[in-house]
Amino acid sequence: MISKRGTWKTKFGFYLAAVGSAAGLGNLWRFPYVVGENGGGAFVLLYVLLVLSLGLSMMIAELMMGQSTKKSLLVSLTKEYRWVGRLALILSIAVLSYYSVISGWALHFSTVFLVEIFSPSNNVATSMGSLVSSPWLQAGLVSVHLLFATIVVLKGIEEGLERWTAWIMPCFAFLLLLLVFKSLSLPSSTEAMRFLFYPDFSKLTWGSLIHAIGHVGFTLSIGFGTLVTFGSYLNQSEHIPTASFRITLIDTVISLVAGLLIFPIAIGASNSPLTDPRLMFEALPTFIASQPGGRIFGLAFFVCLYLAALNATIGLIENVVSNWVDRTRWSRKISTWSISTVIFLLSLGTLFSSQIFRLGKFENRSMLEIVDGIVVNWILPFIILGMSYAMARGFSDSEKRRIFIDPDRVESGSLYTYWVNMLKWAIPSVILFAFFLQIVGLIISN
Ligand code: PHE
Repeated sequence: MISKRGTWKTKFGFYLAAVGSAAGLGNLWRFPYVVGENGGGAFVLLYVLLVLSLGLSMMIAELMMGQSTKKSLLVSLTKEYRWVGRLALILSIAVLSYYSVISGWALHFSTVFLVEIFSPSNNVATSMGSLVSSPWLQAGLVSVHLLFATIVVLKGIEEGLERWTAWIMPCFAFLLLLLVFKSLSLPSSTEAMRFLFYPDFSKLTWGSLIHAIGHVGFTLSIGFGTLVTFGSYLNQSEHIPTASFRITLIDTVISLVAGLLIFPIAIGASNSPLTDPRLMFEALPTFIASQPGGRIFGLAFFVCLYLAALNATIGLIENVVSNWVDRTRWSRKISTWSISTVIFLLSLGTLFSSQIFRLGKFENRSMLEIVDGIVVNWILPFIILGMSYAMARGFSDSEKRRIFIDPDRVESGSLYTYWVNMLKWAIPSVILFAFFLQIVGLIISN
């Protein structure tokens, strides 16, 4: 059991870890395909508006909960709201079960490019197809991935998280920018820009609002309790609203950059439907391999992507473990191994369901997509609703004020009122409305 709670060694360490947990497959893998599914520009606009309102407010709330109680989620919440915490942990495990599969895909492409460097065979283009048709290969990749993550989690917070992220993020940002520069010079880039930024509201569906809310939660790591855990390691001198704003901004820029990267390539290739979860992995590897020096570049890019995914996985596992350890008498070691094993078994379920139950496809959607849809479009918004409620009513006003209001910033008083109203009224209303639309959509389509 952790007897004494550690704190981040430096302010920089906290930012790196928080950005590291926010930026991951959500930005590069999930964002493009969800935008594709929801018809482009109008959805992007909705997403950005929700990030700045709902996302930012909830991030402040979660970090504050952790900083104020110095505890992880389950212990921070008062008894009547503990169900929200339990649900958030179940959510974390459910997300990990397929996040690990996608992380495995990133690991796969790292090795594909590594092998290509030594024995070029031009197999990159067909690589995704053979990967998804082989559950055994994917299961192997998931097990390697979870093994790495478990080892890092067992090493503890400071050595574990801080050291990793400091390396990964800047390299990744650099590679991403170089690639965007290339993709924007493709002839299809004008069409891609139009798709991404021209809001055609007729393309929105009944589910789009809830899809946007779910994705905001997913990409900013809201509703999982991870941020509560991070906040609990944060010392009192950090001004949480400012920190949250910076983290939110960075994450959103990364997603938009990912969109600028993927869409020109995908639209140009015109063989990959923009609505498929494989979108990124179909479009990008072939494009990178076709560039001069592409193999080495591909290796560097996918290693970075993989490390970013590993980092997010670590944040999620760390979150479940620290809650578990805070609430039970299990040792950190046994808890970590047990949780990783459960995640592994669940991911096998996703991978092998097609073989075992012939359940692989439903209305032409893969098991992975179905799980992702249920988790992100139903459970996650529901948790966010519960958390906003818990934070608005279950936390004393004076404590919230003390943490939120910075005497050196005049504007923080009025921002405080805005934030409290967001938690109390705006967020619950918009989520309930979005659920309503989603249900209407379901009824109409049947
Ligand atoms: N935000 C991460 C991403 O975008 C996913 C994640 C969710 C990580 C919750 C940690 C906690 O990939």
